Amino acid sequence: MGGRSRSSSRVMALLVVLLPLMALAGVTAEPNKASQERSFVIDYDNNQFLKDGKPFRYVSGSIHYFRMLPSEWRDRFRKMRMAGFNALQTYVEWASHEPEYGMYDFSGMKNLTKFLTIAQEEDLVVILRLGPYMDAERDMGGFPYWLLNKNPDMRLRSSDATYLKYVDIWFRDVLLPKVKPLLYENGGPIIMLQVENEYGSYPDCDFAYTSHLRDLVVASVGRGPVLFTTDGDGKNYLKCGKIPEVYATVDFGSGTNVIKAFETMRLFEPRGPLVNSEYYPGWLDHWGDPHNTVPAQTVAKTLDVMLALNASVNMYMFHGGTSFGFTSGSNLGNRFQACPTSYDCDAPLSEAGDPTEKYWVLRNVTGKYLPLPPGEVPPASPKFRYGKVSMAPTGSVFQMADLLQKVTNKWPLTFEELLVPNGIVVYQTVLPFRIADPARLTLGDIHDRGYVFVDTEFAGMVSREQDMYDLAIYARPNQTITIVVESQGRVCFGSHINDFKGITTNVTLSNHTLEGWTMTPLPITHTARLQKALAHLRHQAAVHNTLQGTDKGGMTFFSGSFQVPGDSSHPRDTFLRLDGWNKGVAWVNDFCLGRYWPEVGPQVTLYVPRGVLHQGTNTLLLLEQEAAPCLTPDTCYATLQDTHIIDGPTPL
Ligand SMILES: *[C@@H]1O[C@H](CO)[C@@H](O)[C@H](O)[C@H]1NC(C)=O
Ligand SMILES: *[C@@H]1O[C@H](CO)[C@@H](O)[C@H](O)[C@H]1NC(C)=O
Ligand SMILES: *[C@@H]1O[C@H](CO)[C@@H](O)[C@H](O)[C@H]1NC(C)=O
Repeated sequence: MGGRSRSSSRVMALLVVLLPLMALAGVTAEPNKASQERSFVIDYDNNQFLKDGKPFRYVSGSIHYFRMLPSEWRDRFRKMRMAGFNALQTYVEWASHEPEYGMYDFSGMKNLTKFLTIAQEEDLVVILRLGPYMDAERDMGGFPYWLLNKNPDMRLRSSDATYLKYVDIWFRDVLLPKVKPLLYENGGPIIMLQVENEYGSYPDCDFAYTSHLRDLVVASVGRGPVLFTTDGDGKNYLKCGKIPEVYATVDFGSGTNVIKAFETMRLFEPRGPLVNSEYYPGWLDHWGDPHNTVPAQTVAKTLDVMLALNASVNMYMFHGGTSFGFTSGSNLGNRFQACPTSYDCDAPLSEAGDPTEKYWVLRNVTGKYLPLPPGEVPPASPKFRYGKVSMAPTGSVFQMADLLQKVTNKWPLTFEELLVPNGIVVYQTVLPFRIADPARLTLGDIHDRGYVFVDTEFAGMVSREQDMYDLAIYARPNQTITIVVESQGRVCFGSHINDFKGITTNVTLSNHTLEGWTMTPLPITHTARLQKALAHLRHQAAVHNTLQGTDKGGMTFFSGSFQVPGDSSHPRDTFLRLDGWNKGVAWVNDFCLGRYWPEVGPQVTLYVPRGVLHQGTNTLLLLEQEAAPCLTPDTCYATLQDTHIIDGPTPL
């Protein structure tokens, strides 16, 4: 290049100086433009979120994929979107996806990817609550029960090494790789990820644990998505719930002093958008307690106050749905309280997904702040009265137990030790010695409900709900003492979520410890195994003369069938009414609707979604634990009606 003139080399020199600058400008301009196109960040300067570089505020609603059939997801999203809501919030339920250790399920009702993709198609962004713990009035707060089998002393929600081992596998190897492509920055709907849940309400206050979770999430998905926590609106909750570098938000219901609640949030997040991550338009129920409702106007008023402050709000629940099967949890406050099957929560969309009066009132409030999409709100789904379903006994729990595999042990084993996820286990022991008349049978801390039999005679009950753990029995040597133990759902909130089920302590009879136990789990949480056991039962029941159910028809399986018309307006949603039945579990076409207990209410009927029905012959199966109206065949029936009753009478 020796032939170059001076002047040209000066030009070259100038270019050498300029080029890197221009290149640099190019480099910074490019990603800036890209990130403006698909970005979601907190704008601390202006106390707001920025979506694609523009101010953004969400009015979101909670809908849980695991509480409704996939065939209904789109309908529920559309109704929510039509109320002006622009975001969906859901928990991820670990127990749903890993029901047994290392066995993963993302199919059907558990197809998280599909759920979130449909939400995106329905024009909703997503706020995903990763867990691993969620509460949500679900069995064990969404934790898989088998954690308690891996290490009975495991301290859940802490930096206990055995606990973290399983959390790490779940998050790092399974959940987060599924979440990553669904992040907003990657073209998906997820704008925010919640770490843990209301951790400040848990006594441990283990910052090593929560920081570990944060790092686990960041390591898997990067620093792109906004991470946040949710806690009650009290300083003490936030103190333990706040995680460094994770945005702290609060939750509270209507009637709360909104200014005060957000002032508490401001102590921990001096700048950034105001967020209520769980605004309650209603409240949860417990069996035996009156149904909870909150007036629509009250909910509307507080919502209006929050939205006028430019807060982002998530309504918990917008549509509660149903805790099908054995997924419902329980609470342990002053006493043990089991949650019913319905998770209606007095939400804007009813359990069957229909817009309620509250829906229209809240839609008007949202409409003041966000555009309401044009078009009609989808109507309530039509219901149908399929009428009487005649039921007949199929066999007893004891006859079924005779046909099943048993476990024997010197001491009673818990459900978790037996690797039984839920449901019912039959515990039996033979009395080896002479006892007083009567003798006190003490079942310690039974979880949760025990039906006691001496040979074939029903001797009485013990109940955790009623704090009743012993009863007087009379028995002779060599008689069999049978205790049928029902799990009413594991505790979902507070420090006792390690809620082992079954007989959890030794059993004594007038202070003598009973040894030599036989345990028979009923396969009622597993459809295929239940079907097999029922088929055996049908074969054998006629020839067996073992323990029948109770005199009143308790501890007995009943089955029946009903017809769904063949015209195209069927099948339709319907509700199972069980007048005269006491307490048990119901299945339609092998789909477990959940527990029923109309005797204590407030839930009287069970929601039967149209998606589990088909035209032609459908089957109903009941496991009645206590008493059936079946002394004569013509009173032995259930009813499918077109209205839902979740506010029935409850005991004094
Ligand atoms: C989840 O849904 C998607 C979309 O319908 C489907 O392609 C995928 O196979 C489903 N996943 C499972 C595990 O069934
Ligand atoms: C809400 O946001 C709007 C638009 O950015 C702004 O004009 C208004 O002052 C904000 N209101 C409050 C209470 O911060
Ligand atoms: C909603 O607002 C409209 C228009 O202001 C009003 O006519 C209607 O009664 C309101 N609906 C409810 C349920 O408040």
